[in-house]
Amino acid sequence: MPEVNTDKIFAAFLLRLEEVAKIEDFDDIEKEFLGKNSLLSEERKSLSSLNEVSRKKYGKLLQDLSNNITSKLDEEKTKFKSKFFIQSELNDNNDISIDWYKNLGSKNHVLTNVMNEVVDIFAAIGYTVSTGPEAETSWHNFDALNTPDWHPARYESDTLYLDNKLEKLLRTQTSTVQVRHMQNNKPPVYIVAPGRVYRSDQLDATHSPVFHQIEGLAVDENLTFSDLKGTLEYFVKEFFGKDLKTKFIPHFFPFTEPSAEVLVSWKDGEWLEILGCGMVDPNVFKHVGYDTDSQGFAFGVGVERLAMIRYGIDHIKNFYENDLRFLRQF
Ligand code: DAH
Repeated sequence: MPEVNTDKIFAAFLLRLEEVAKIEDFDDIEKEFLGKNSLLSEERKSLSSLNEVSRKKYGKLLQDLSNNITSKLDEEKTKFKSKFFIQSELNDNNDISIDWYKNLGSKNHVLTNVMNEVVDIFAAIGYTVSTGPEAETSWHNFDALNTPDWHPARYESDTLYLDNKLEKLLRTQTSTVQVRHMQNNKPPVYIVAPGRVYRSDQLDATHSPVFHQIEGLAVDENLTFSDLKGTLEYFVKEFFGKDLKTKFIPHFFPFTEPSAEVLVSWKDGEWLEILGCGMVDPNVFKHVGYDTDSQGFAFGVGVERLAMIRYGIDHIKNFYENDLRFLRQF
């Protein structure tokens, strides 16, 4: 009867398992304990020299050892793998259950929220959204909107041009979208057009060279100045609530006749203009290919000003400085 002690081999195998540091170590251990040159294989070779009774008995002993080693190896390998993946997930910080948006506190900018809210207020009474490019032609920004050649808004001191011929510019107003929309759509029209506009303005508390507007346009049979006033009253009440004091005063815009402005009482009894409006001038209808006796009204709202009044913000620059202490408040 050979002298090899299978318990000792198994104990040595268990000790080796404790040293495992990487998945490849399991292959080495397998080779060492079950491979061609392992003790087990050597012993198997010597079986042929035994008589039948001893061969059977010893053969079974060796087979049990081999089975035990194989199953323990599999078991430990599975455990090691799952530990390995859990650890590498932790290292990667790759937790798919994390709601990054919520946990990082990211959210829309206050101006985006205000624009969305204004759009929703008008959507509730049947308006849809229309958009246009920020780089525009002078024709869409001025000519089509009935702005005479001599109008000061066309000066380079007021408008940021993109070429020397003064034919291309950064739009100074979202009113350009009125023009584009009417060129491509027949009445009835009920649209709002939120977007960014540019002027060569100095930064002060209420002016910035880049800001946001929401244009509105309604063209339909029998629309009157009362419809315009009613629509804007509805909007101002929905946005600010019923208690805010507002003022509706006559004004001049080249593209509307008559024209008006809405002012809202701000800080220390000051009035701040939040929008311009009026009945669309027949010349505008002519330029976009509508009948000149079409009826409609238009308005342009300053988004920053809406936010400043609602939240008591005293300088427009706060919107663009991206100071998280400011942004996180909304
Ligand atoms: N575009 C004007 C501005 O930027 C605002 C405005 C006034 C828009 C009257 C209109 C309007 O549609 O009818 O100051």
